[in-house]
Amino acid sequence: MITPHEGSPTSKLPPRRSKNEFYRYYAGYPLDFAEWALGKLGLPAGGLVVDPWNGSGTTAAACARLGFSFQGYDINPVMVHLGRARVASSVDFEEAREMIDCVAEIIAGVPSLTVAAAGQAFREIPVTNEAAHSIAIAALFPLARNLLGEEKTKNPSWFRAGISLRDAPLDEMVFLDRWRSLLSDVAQWRSTRDDPDGSVISVERGDSRKSLGRKDAFDGLLSSPPYLTRLDYVHATLPEFLLLAEFDSVPDMQRLRRSMLGSPLTSGRPKENVERLPEDIKRLLQAIQNHTSKASASYYLRFFSTYFVDLQASMRNIAKVLKVGGRGCLVVQSSHYKEIEIDLAKAVISLATDLGLRHIETVEFISKRSMSLVNTRAHEEARKPKAESAVFLQRNARC
Ligand SMILES: C[S@@+](CC[C@H](N)C(=O)[O-])C[C@H]1O[C@@H](n2cnc3c(N)ncnc32)[C@H](O)[C@@H]1O
Repeated sequence: MITPHEGSPTSKLPPRRSKNEFYRYYAGYPLDFAEWALGKLGLPAGGLVVDPWNGSGTTAAACARLGFSFQGYDINPVMVHLGRARVASSVDFEEAREMIDCVAEIIAGVPSLTVAAAGQAFREIPVTNEAAHSIAIAALFPLARNLLGEEKTKNPSWFRAGISLRDAPLDEMVFLDRWRSLLSDVAQWRSTRDDPDGSVISVERGDSRKSLGRKDAFDGLLSSPPYLTRLDYVHATLPEFLLLAEFDSVPDMQRLRRSMLGSPLTSGRPKENVERLPEDIKRLLQAIQNHTSKASASYYLRFFSTYFVDLQASMRNIAKVLKVGGRGCLVVQSSHYKEIEIDLAKAVISLATDLGLRHIETVEFISKRSMSLVNTRAHEEARKPKAESAVFLQRNARC
């Protein structure tokens, strides 16, 4: 959650709207914040917005409400299904209901129904509407946590070892009732307009380091990359991922975890060439390398170098796909390595400036969603509430 600093321009932010939270996502910013930030970007009516790290789709939802077109990407297929569900239309929901009816026919009378058998039945139905397909799957995500008994974990990426959903038994009637009722919860949670004025909202699986689509395509950007908390965003969705593996195709989880920006798993990566990073980031990496604590010059240097090289590759794509004059806002949070401050907003500004983007302003918030707060063994500095910064940028040159 983000609350404005007292006296900052953002103290004018509207209060957070209470909303039926279908899916508790710890890493998202509030919808009100996204609407406020989009307003501040001064986009043309019906303009096209991109979010390279779509997560639970808050930017997508805000665009749908405000009548902007939108393209979102996320590397984690779980978040892609959830993101699509959040902005689906009533027609998509109708089709998702029909898909559940088809599954009901296929599984009728199946003895000893399991998650795997229900997933197999779902796979038999042709996918004619991607959004409907995603909604039907996303509706089952809370059920995955119930079945595994993993609804409440202190740290979002800690689960018991060896959990599996495949052979979990299902009672046919109870399962179908629950699926339909969860679908209604998704319908309550979503934020979209059913009269979209010609705007198009799309969420795809994609890697921000590789491509964000066509050059000069977007009027605006609002996003939040993973922070330097060493939180494994992919592993944090393990129950949903296990369900998805039964109902749809999934990439290899270990490879996916390693491709994630800010992944704590760095061992499979070649040593990064940090030469092209801005000087202040190189100095920061040097300070980390020289720190006397254990693994500073090995694991931690590799972790931080990989993050900044990946962030630079992603920001290069951002600079490419924004139109000349297009504006963006990146929400980041600073952290500490031991007593060394990692000022992520400053790093983002250096990377952006290097790529021909102009820094307009930075608005600070005090955040209560710091992931380091859940780690009771974290360094004292790391456990204090963190400032979260909304960095506003503009592309003002050919790059
Ligand atoms: C901080 S969250 C975004 C939260 C989002 N703003 C919201 O309100 O829900 C970061 C997201 O980036 C995604 N991600 C990590 N590495 C990525 C990559 N290389 N390409 C695209 N998405 C990635 C993660 O899966 C995660 O969902």
